[in-house]
Amino acid sequence: MSLITDHDGPRTTIQIIPKDGFETWHDTLPDAGRNWIGRQQFKGSSGQMAWLPDDTGAPDSVVVGWDGTDEFAALGNLPFQLPEGVYELATPVTHLQLLGWGFGAYCFDRFKAPERNPSELLIPHDADADALTIQVNAIRLVRDLINLPADELNPSRLAEEAVQLAHSYDAEATVTVGDGLLSAGYNTIHAVGRAADDAPRLIDFRWGNPDHPKVSLIGKGVCFDSGGLDIKPASGMRTMKKDMGGAANVLGLAQLIMASGLPVRLRVLIPAVENAISGNAYRPGDIIQTYKGLSVEVDNTDAEGRLVMCDALALAAEEEPELILDFSTLTGAARSAVGAEIACMFSNDDSVAAGLLAGSETSEDPVWRMPLHAPYRYMLDSKVADTVNSASLPYGGAITAALFLEKFVAEVPWAHFDIMAFNIRQRPGRPEGGEAMGVRAAFEYLKGRFGG
Ligand code: BES
Ligand code: MN
Ligand code: ZN
Repeated sequence: MSLITDHDGPRTTIQIIPKDGFETWHDTLPDAGRNWIGRQQFKGSSGQMAWLPDDTGAPDSVVVGWDGTDEFAALGNLPFQLPEGVYELATPVTHLQLLGWGFGAYCFDRFKAPERNPSELLIPHDADADALTIQVNAIRLVRDLINLPADELNPSRLAEEAVQLAHSYDAEATVTVGDGLLSAGYNTIHAVGRAADDAPRLIDFRWGNPDHPKVSLIGKGVCFDSGGLDIKPASGMRTMKKDMGGAANVLGLAQLIMASGLPVRLRVLIPAVENAISGNAYRPGDIIQTYKGLSVEVDNTDAEGRLVMCDALALAAEEEPELILDFSTLTGAARSAVGAEIACMFSNDDSVAAGLLAGSETSEDPVWRMPLHAPYRYMLDSKVADTVNSASLPYGGAITAALFLEKFVAEVPWAHFDIMAFNIRQRPGRPEGGEAMGVRAAFEYLKGRFGG
């Protein structure tokens, strides 16, 4: 971990200079310091850093600017900007700024030796070191899972990772594999995943006191999305190793919940499949009898996410938990609507939605609510089945996908996150690559609602 609690050796101090305190701070500097700052053109903009000298004129301590907006901007770039070593803060720091350091120290180095190690920061005594460690580890797990390519992270490996996580917190896990899905009635998960070499499966684990309120998390685990017979163009397929990003986000959220000991009865469901092409692939026009009993006419095999999710949602809804949250890299339309850096959230419950938006604010984890606009349901009408999987018109694609999912949750309070799960550019605390989106917002909400 790049956020550490103890260190005996030397360390370099860092001061955060808030924008509105810049002038006052600058005026108090000795001449030498002012010269150094001038030479480094330090203006105190967010994340900008500079060195200050000691009495002998040697580089001694670090200052970094912060404009009071993005908390991650203060320290998020420093782990790879500062020379390797141990640092400590000489000015007050917020929990989110510390998280920014922890998140910014991430690097996916499984297949390429890193050029350097991230620098380490001593966690101040008055900060919540346990919470920081838990959050950094959870987000690391999410990113690693998404960044792993599909040749490694196939459905069986995703199931192994989920079961390993479950077991490390004494949760009970079951995995239903291949034809077992058909015997149990999860025909839709089977149909989507049956053409792949690695069999489709449904991961199901439960943790916590059975008397506590039930919360169920469901994550889209499409380990690779070729589009199926409605094959994607190369440009669209290129990033589809991340199509299990919902599952990764759910595992990260589950880890947050379990590691913090949140008093809930947690259930995690992950349909893990590869949307592949073969002689036995499911086809446009096929009609699938879903677990819930609704028949679905396949309009497009590339709308596979909502298909694997619908069986898991129906299963979760059966036991009427207090809350269902799902995370899915469900639609390109959600990306068109809000871009790559905001999670779309849909909910059939206004108080859940309001709570999640409040959690989004406090955790600086951007979430935007979208409407489950009932009049658009007509776009899912089928002439030969209860519903189609994908709308007949190209409008409001994230909404019609969410309306499809809604058919399977019945009256259970539910929120659906349609996420990118990937940073397409580097930002402080948010390196390019796999990313958790909406997870910290959701955790904030769950803590406030169910926390002891
Ligand atoms: N996994 C994709 C959605 C996606 C694409 C998420 C790019 C994030 C970035 C999903 O399975 C898909 O292919 N959706 C189709 C649905 C369409 C066929 C109705 C889409 O969005 O184009
Ligand atoms: Mn698809
Ligand atoms: Zn997909």
